[in-house]
Amino acid sequence: MKGNETFYSIPWEDLPPTHYVDNRIFCDQKIFDIEQRTIFSKVWKFVCCESELAGTNDFRTTTVAGVPLLIVRGPDAKIRAMVNSCSHRGVKLVEEPAGNARKFECLFHRWTYDARGRCIDIPREEGYACVKIDKAQCGLKQVRCESTRGLVFVNLDDDAAPLEDYLAGCLSVFDDVFGQVELEVLHFHEQVLDTDWKHWQETNMELYHEYLHVLNRKTGMIDPAYFNRAWHAFENGHMAVDPLIIQYEKMQGGASREEHTLPGLKPNEFRILDIFPDVMLNCRASVLRIDTQIPLAAGKTLVQFRGLGVKGEPEQMRRQRIRDHAEFWGPFGRNLPEDALATERQKETMGKASKYSLMAREENRLTQDDFPVREFYRQWERLTGLRAASASMLPE
Ligand code: FES
Ligand SMILES: [Fe+2]
Repeated sequence: MKGNETFYSIPWEDLPPTHYVDNRIFCDQKIFDIEQRTIFSKVWKFVCCESELAGTNDFRTTTVAGVPLLIVRGPDAKIRAMVNSCSHRGVKLVEEPAGNARKFECLFHRWTYDARGRCIDIPREEGYACVKIDKAQCGLKQVRCESTRGLVFVNLDDDAAPLEDYLAGCLSVFDDVFGQVELEVLHFHEQVLDTDWKHWQETNMELYHEYLHVLNRKTGMIDPAYFNRAWHAFENGHMAVDPLIIQYEKMQGGASREEHTLPGLKPNEFRILDIFPDVMLNCRASVLRIDTQIPLAAGKTLVQFRGLGVKGEPEQMRRQRIRDHAEFWGPFGRNLPEDALATERQKETMGKASKYSLMAREENRLTQDDFPVREFYRQWERLTGLRAASASMLPE
């Protein structure tokens, strides 16, 4: 053996560079740092649902491009995002993932902020008179924050175009669901995966991998219509695939989810929308699942999973919906653990035994075409200025 290339007989050099990627993009920390700077610091990033901040002074914390953020619904009902770092000497202000607080008091020197991020107390403030600083100047740094259809997004870039421009109409795919009833989060869990964030997003785009899932093979792929769904591209790298009716009754012990169908969907209907760079909305009849990611390092990502159901529904219905969700998409469900296993195993070989990854399927943009993954990398290249297929283009 001369090198990694000899593990393959695939003629990589003959392929169009759009049809494969250099696996170092999944494990090189320099690439990760560029992604944080040119993608996650620039795009609108989904952070939570409005229903998670239902009451006055409800808050959530998160991290975007390494910047800790505090998202709060203020007394004026407005949701704001601010940097979760004390203006005095930088201590992370709020440690809890979520909660309710009228004010936030820094543990170090007790500077205190209200739910809008205004600094409302500085102990012995007069000591700063010499440099003419008072608390009116010491609020938390505000970050752009916009909501649509109950989804809250932030953007670290003050010059970015508005959220709706960025989404380029892609959420219209779910408008009939969002428009019918109010949805709320009924499930949340998160998991650190030993895989790169792009690998997770790829599993939500390349449906060729559904051979992985017994569930998909039995309830979806038995239908010829499964293979004939078209992918639709929106500007800025967002992708949606045509719906499918899932035959739940075909799996062992399975039953139709018809009676729990979310308003706006057909019985047992299944839809997917991928929002660049890291979000997937996935409706499977009774529940809307939303994945989003906090990339931690090259080859390591925190994935957050939410399940949404109808707000205010009867308890019995809610229990069934939660059961439906957990059966497929809970941490021990039929679907998620399989994706986690596959993507972690994928990462184990990246840049070592495995030098390139194929994304070369062409099927007229139908279900198992790699078109959505190629579109993803087209946008990735546009923003990072890198070439996904060309290791020689990566910075030293
Ligand atoms: S760092 Fe927060 S009060 Fe000093
Ligand atoms: Fe999957």
